[in-house]
Amino acid sequence: MLTLPINTLQKMKTTAIIGGSGLTQMTSIKIIEQKQFQTPYGSPSSACTIGEFCGQKVIFLARHGDPHKIAPHKINYRANLWALKQAGAEQIIAVAAVGGITSEMYPARIAIPEQIIDYSYGREHTYFAEETGAVDHIDFSFPYDENLRQQIILSAQSLEINIQAGGVYGCTQGPRLETAVEITRMQRDGCHLVGMTGMPEAALARELQMPYVCCAVIANWAAGKSAGEISMPEILKNLGQGMIDTEQLLQRYFLTHTSLQD
Ligand code: HPA
Repeated sequence: MLTLPINTLQKMKTTAIIGGSGLTQMTSIKIIEQKQFQTPYGSPSSACTIGEFCGQKVIFLARHGDPHKIAPHKINYRANLWALKQAGAEQIIAVAAVGGITSEMYPARIAIPEQIIDYSYGREHTYFAEETGAVDHIDFSFPYDENLRQQIILSAQSLEINIQAGGVYGCTQGPRLETAVEITRMQRDGCHLVGMTGMPEAALARELQMPYVCCAVIANWAAGKSAGEISMPEILKNLGQGMIDTEQLLQRYFLTHTSLQD
């Protein structure tokens, strides 16, 4: 008889996957319900797909809408996270396209960052609004949930997917890409990756007490890090490859986290 070590017999938290550019739908989810939530903060980017993935409950939301049409600075992050919570999410795996700044962050690779620097501005970034009178200052020293990060990293390692387990994600405003010297400055600041959607998403998840991790799929070398212009065909090609690995990684994570769900 198969015996499982006691610590694998934990009930898996209900997981939400937020799909970014390149992951607007997950066809491998067996759909139970598509639910359009309304929130005190307005409408989320898309309906929540509630379904089954590798034998587990999953909730999927397309960050940029389905079809992909909402620019990073126009995403209603507060409504998205609120809707996921309403749908029953207890933890979040956020898939996001990024540019690679440092040499180990090459295109089509996946990174699981451990820190964030936020360069975005003007986004609705908190649930603690003046008008409600409720203000709290969440601890955000370590923006990603370390437990969940390690579980995702282990899943990748067991599949021999060559991920980069770490890195600092710099979140820019977009939708334009950066200048070469903006990237030089970000590298000086300590960033390894650049993306446009990591914030305020991660902080809002923390405010709602949902552990959050990012699977960053490297779509291109960041500005000034390769010869020539950054082209959309190149981005799409790399994202295509990276998303194949990402779906495999998600499958492995869901399959190896034995469900004792009722
Ligand atoms: N910069 C910012 N966001 C991105 C990039 C980039 O180079 N590539 C994919 N998302």
